[in-house]
Amino acid sequence: MCGITGYVGEEEAAPLLYNGLKRMEYRGYDSAGIATISGNQLVVKKDAGKVAEINNYLDFLSMRGKIGIAHTRWATHGGVTKENAHPHVSCKIDVAVIHNGIIENHQQLKEALKADGHIFNSETDTEVIAHLLEKHAEKHKDSKRIVLETVKDLKGSFAFLAIFASDPETLIGARKDAPLAIGITRRGNFIASDILAFIDYTDRVIFLDNREIAVVKQDKVQIYNFAGRPVQKQITQVAWEAKDTSKAEFAHYTTKEIHEQPQTLKAALYQDQDKIKRFVEAVKQSEHVNITACGTSYHAGLVLRNLLARLAKIRSGITLSSEFAHDAELIGPDSLLIGLSQSGETADLLSAVADAKKKGAEVFSILNVVGSTLDRESALSLSINCGPEIGVAATKSFTGQLAIAYLLAFSVVDDMRRLSELRNIWKAVEEVLKQEDKVVDVADKYKDCNDFYFVGRGLHLPIALEGALKLKELAYNHAEGMAGGELKHGTLALIEEGTPVVVLNPEDETYDEMLSNASEMKARGARIIGVSNKPNQIYDEFIEIPKVDKLLYPLIEVIPLQMLAYHAAVLRKKDPDYPRNLAKSVTVK
Ligand code: F6R
Repeated sequence: MCGITGYVGEEEAAPLLYNGLKRMEYRGYDSAGIATISGNQLVVKKDAGKVAEINNYLDFLSMRGKIGIAHTRWATHGGVTKENAHPHVSCKIDVAVIHNGIIENHQQLKEALKADGHIFNSETDTEVIAHLLEKHAEKHKDSKRIVLETVKDLKGSFAFLAIFASDPETLIGARKDAPLAIGITRRGNFIASDILAFIDYTDRVIFLDNREIAVVKQDKVQIYNFAGRPVQKQITQVAWEAKDTSKAEFAHYTTKEIHEQPQTLKAALYQDQDKIKRFVEAVKQSEHVNITACGTSYHAGLVLRNLLARLAKIRSGITLSSEFAHDAELIGPDSLLIGLSQSGETADLLSAVADAKKKGAEVFSILNVVGSTLDRESALSLSINCGPEIGVAATKSFTGQLAIAYLLAFSVVDDMRRLSELRNIWKAVEEVLKQEDKVVDVADKYKDCNDFYFVGRGLHLPIALEGALKLKELAYNHAEGMAGGELKHGTLALIEEGTPVVVLNPEDETYDEMLSNASEMKARGARIIGVSNKPNQIYDEFIEIPKVDKLLYPLIEVIPLQMLAYHAAVLRKKDPDYPRNLAKSVTVK
C-alpha cells in the first residue's frame, strides 16, 4: 500500500529518493515525505498531497545528506494530514521512521510510551516505532541492536526503515509480512518496498524474508534474523528495466498498459516447458485443486476453474483469499493450492497461502513479480512476464493470467490446435484495440449513468465481473457484473429507461440465451451495448470483436471493457492511474 524507500551512499540522497517516490506513487498517493541526515542533523519535509505538488513548495531536492528515507502514503491509521504523513520522528528528533503495514498493538504501546513521557504528534500507528527506537536507544548504542529490541515489541505487519542522527552511515530496514528489497549499486545501496523505487539505478536485488532486518551502509549489506543471527542471501538480477516504467507516448499508464497487451500476451505464453509440465502433472495428479486470489486476479482464477472443469473434467474449488480462513476446511496434505496475483504481495493471499501450507498443501502460483513473497512461498511459480504494471487497475496482468490459465488447461488435455490458436491470439487483440473510437463514443454517451450492468454466461461471466470492477474503480460509476440467467432472480427490477447493459455475446453455446436476456432487458428500457463477433439489431451499440476459437473470447472481449472504463474515467475527469481510495498491491489485511 504505502511505498517506502531509503538510500545510503556516495550520492546526495534526496534526488534519488524523490525519483523513487514518483516511481512508487502508484502504491499510495495521499501524502509524501523525505528525511535526510546531513552532519548529525536530521531534517524532515512532508505534507499531504501528491509528490510533485508537495515538492513545488517544500523543495525536496534541496535537502542535503547522503542518507535518507522517503515515503508515499495510503492512509490506514489517521486522516490525510501533514502530521500523519511519514517520516515520523522521536521526541528528540534523532530517529526518523517510515513504515508500511499495521502495528496492531499500537494503542497499548502508545499508552505505555506516553506514561514514560513520550509526546506524540500524529494519529498514526507508525509513530510508536520512532518512540520505541528512541526508548531502546537510551540503553543500547548499536543501531542494529536498537532495531532488534524494537521489533520484539511490535505486533502486526510491518516493513519499516529507520535512520539515526547518531549513526548517519547506517540505514536499517525490518520486515514482517510486508515486502522489502535491497538494491545494490557500486556507489551506495537502497532499501525499498518495491524494486521500482530503485530500478533506474540497479537491477541487482536482495529480497528480505519475514522476520529479517537489513543493516545497510554505503559499501556493505548485512542481513540478520530477528534473533540477531546473520543470514546469507543471494543477489538476484531482476528482469525489469527502467524503460519499462515510462508512459512512452501515452497520456496515462493505464492506457499504455491496455495497448501493450498484444506484446504482453506473447510474453506470458513464453514459458519454460519444464515448469509447465510440472504444473500440469501436479494439477492432473492432485486430489484437490484449489484456486485463490483477490480482485481482478480472482476473476482470472474463475476462468482457470471453468477451463479445468470444462476441458479436463478436473473439479477445482476457488475461494477469495480474504474468505479463505472461513472457507477452506477441505484443504489438507493432498491439496494443491494455486494462487494468482500480479504483485505477489497481497496480504490476504499470502495469509491464505500460509494457512494452506500449515495444513500441508502444496502451493503453486501464477504471478507477475518474480522474487515477490508469493513467488518465494511457492513450490513452483509461473511468471506472466508482463513487466511493471503501474496503473492501479489491473489490465495487462489480467490477460497475462488468462493466457497462462489457457496454456495450462490446453496442456492438461494436449489440445495442440487450441495451443496454436492461443499463441496467435495477440493478433485478435490488435484488432480489438482498433475499436477504440467506437468505445470512446459509447463511453461518452453513457458516462454519467448511475448504474451499469455487465452480463455474461459461462466463461463470459468472469469477464462481466471484471468489466464492472474496472468501471467502478476507474470511473466511479456503480456497476454490477452478473450471470445472464440471474437477471430474472432480482436484478431485472433495477432496469429502467436508459440503463446501460453491456452484453458479452460472442458466438458460442451461450449466444442464443444471451440474446433472450438482451431482449428481456431491452423490453424494460435498457440500452444494450453488445460485444460480439456478430452484429444484431437488438444492440443499441455494437462493439465488434473478431471471430476466434469459442473458448478464447474472454481474452479479447475484456479489452473493450478495459478501454470503456479508462475512457469513461478520462471523460469524467478522474485520474485513471490513481483512483481515489485505492492503491496497487494491497499489503495490509
Ligand atoms: C483491480 C485490481 C485489484 C487487484 C487485487 C489483487 O483492478 O487491481 O482488484 O487485482 O488487489 O492484487 P494482486 O493481483 O496483486 O494480488
